[in-house]
Amino acid sequence: MTWTIPDAVAALRRGDLVILPTETVYGLAADAGNAEAVARIFAAKGRPRFNPLIGHVDSVEAAARVGVMTAMGEALADRFWPGPVTLVLPVREGSRVCELARAGLDSVAVRVPGHPVARAALEAFGGPVVAPSANRSGRPSPTTFDDAVEETGGAAAVALDGGPCAVGLESTVVSLLGDRPRLLRPGSITREQLEVVVGPLEADGAEGHRSPGRLSLHYAPDAPVRIEAEEARPGEILLGFGPGVGDPRWSLSASGDLTEAAARLFRLLREADREQPAGIAIAPLPQTGLGEAINDRIRRAAGFVG
Ligand code: TXA
Ligand code: MG
Repeated sequence: MTWTIPDAVAALRRGDLVILPTETVYGLAADAGNAEAVARIFAAKGRPRFNPLIGHVDSVEAAARVGVMTAMGEALADRFWPGPVTLVLPVREGSRVCELARAGLDSVAVRVPGHPVARAALEAFGGPVVAPSANRSGRPSPTTFDDAVEETGGAAAVALDGGPCAVGLESTVVSLLGDRPRLLRPGSITREQLEVVVGPLEADGAEGHRSPGRLSLHYAPDAPVRIEAEEARPGEILLGFGPGVGDPRWSLSASGDLTEAAARLFRLLREADREQPAGIAIAPLPQTGLGEAINDRIRRAAGFVG
């Protein structure tokens, strides 16, 4: 069955869940104002606790009805929306993003996704939609329609197919709650790109910001993951990076392209896991630019605190 945008809108209005493609990863979406629907998201994902969710909206104006837009928020929105950046803002009085979706915090995360299917659905729905990545808790985020349906499709009334996700990593999360913006989750929009717009970000470890959803063992396949691997040990699959590292079929990017590696990482982790190897080894990647976000996900897949 092929679902349409009106099907998705009707499902959201009824309080049902929808698999929603975005440019980063597939999301499991609900009406942000319907606490029962939001509770069903947590149940479907099997989240160990109620982590706060991201509100997805179709415009900066809609974001400003959900959270209190600051000057820095406007500047970041102007430069990066629609696109893979999430802003954490003080919650606005009367915000439609319910308390459960915010995990009781007085802040709210919001983004305007760039994927045409997500945008069309949000415009047609006309309100904020919360959507965590459509994986079960602790598993790699789905970057294809089939993976999303396999993970949480059973809990969704409607699943929209938007093709493979162009970015392949979750959005960059920036907190604007302190004096200086702070990077809570690295993503495809890099620290350097953010700093061009808002100046230096606050140093990691500073007080005043929290990223409640950042479990250390996240994005993890079933097979053990070994990082900074130069070659495969017996029974392991090596995810290479750069020319001549491992089997090209399993390379994150044979040409050493970080954008390609980001888009392929979760997909390859899943495919490798299906082979039930003794382990998944991952070659070293540079820490520059997009490498910061990719290495963050790789360290979490291996069970290291990020
Ligand atoms: O790319 C994405 O962001 C995807 C797609 C579907 O949009 N969504 C996603 O959602 O990755 P999720 O729920 O898997 O991750 C949400 C992140 C978590 O790290 C959470 O802690 C953080 O956003 N977050 C949400 N609200 C927050 C808040 N008020 N303060 C600090 N961090 C918050
Ligand atoms: Mg997630």
